[in-house]
Amino acid sequence: MKILVLGSGAREHAIITALLAEEAGHEIVAAPGNAGIAADVAVDTALDPLDGAAVAEYAIENGIELVVIGPEAPLVAGVADPLRTRGIPVFGPGKAAAQLEGSKTFAKRVMEAAGVPTGRAVRAGTLAEVEKALDDLGAPYVIKADGLAAGKGVLVTEDRAAALAHAEHYLTQGGVLIEEFLDGQEVSLFLVSDGHTVLPLSPAQDYKRLLDGDAGPNTGGMGAYSPLPWLPETFVDEVIDTVALPTVRQLAAEQTPFIGLLYCGLIMTERGIRVIEFNARFGDPETQVVLPRLVTPLSSLLFAAATGALAGMPRPEFALDTAVTVVVASEGYPEAPLTGRPITGLEEAAGVPEVTIAHAATARDESGALVATGGRVLSVVARGTTFAEARERAYEAVGRIHLEGSQYRTDIAARVS
Ligand code: AMP
Ligand code: GLY
Repeated sequence: MKILVLGSGAREHAIITALLAEEAGHEIVAAPGNAGIAADVAVDTALDPLDGAAVAEYAIENGIELVVIGPEAPLVAGVADPLRTRGIPVFGPGKAAAQLEGSKTFAKRVMEAAGVPTGRAVRAGTLAEVEKALDDLGAPYVIKADGLAAGKGVLVTEDRAAALAHAEHYLTQGGVLIEEFLDGQEVSLFLVSDGHTVLPLSPAQDYKRLLDGDAGPNTGGMGAYSPLPWLPETFVDEVIDTVALPTVRQLAAEQTPFIGLLYCGLIMTERGIRVIEFNARFGDPETQVVLPRLVTPLSSLLFAAATGALAGMPRPEFALDTAVTVVVASEGYPEAPLTGRPITGLEEAAGVPEVTIAHAATARDESGALVATGGRVLSVVARGTTFAEARERAYEAVGRIHLEGSQYRTDIAARVS
């Protein structure tokens, strides 16, 4: 199949790696991609992934049979819509349904209408409303930017002054939500949706905080592992029945079907499963630990979702081993990453058994040397029979990579058994 993948992160690299691993032998183009993606498939850096009309034109001219939209920005910008209008199969929701990720207020409204369990939340437009909501809901305080904020919009704190300062910053940028604090283990569950039917992938856990022991600021995600052996066996079915299907049906009833990847960010509280967020795309870095274990051809799932043909397909199958990923980030991430620094040792790292490296923010400079171009730079992925084995391999590989000032967590999947 001729497939166009939009995006430039480790998630897109992992998607492409999974597509290339299929027997079918796809022809893949990525736009814009990164240095790692460019080493594996053709890239087109001239195509603007945020320009829906240009992407549609490109797809038609080049005989693209499936467009996969990786990141949230083109989804929220509505890039899927002109593609669908022109009859091009596209994996990713249109502008209206992508609001599930693009607006926390929209997501809360849909959840309420669909009866999906989530934390209580109050939308605040002024500092006085923020103060009242903080007092009503109490500490720990959870303050969320209403719009897209690249993983940095959420602050969870006991410190009322810090909560107010965070709210004040985002009040001028689309408003904030003050939410009830939810306590428990976090789970990311991805479901492929064709607008009516959903199929679950394997659950994963993300490490959102920058530092070991879940200290430091929230990030886009510093590591992940999959599967989650500690989950109750009924977990996936419960999320399908109480979260995913009601949400997909609600959006279908509103004439804005959700076609793409429904990412359910969940907390297992003592009172049951609660949604903390929806995303409208594959999660990063969870994708890097979910897709390598997927046995069912990824393209068959994405194409069936894009063409409304998931009903009747069996649930995706997964290998029984484990996967761990450790993210290598630039010095200064997440506040002010220092970029342009050379990366070495990747070949040595990829020489560790069962290790693959998904590139996030990498490019080649004029001399052809590999350099870091952003905050999260690489996602080092390892598989193993046990988590201990996968972890050991991942850290062995990370140790072989050199990027001046780089940071990574040392406790990814450390306490899983
Ligand atoms: P979000 O961007 O909504 O996923 O939030 C980022 C992170 O903040 C989550 O992964 C949680 O660790 C934390 N968080 C978000 N909402 C809550 C909540 N209501 N209670 C506790 N922690 C939360
Ligand atoms: N891993 C968090 C995200 O993709 O938003």
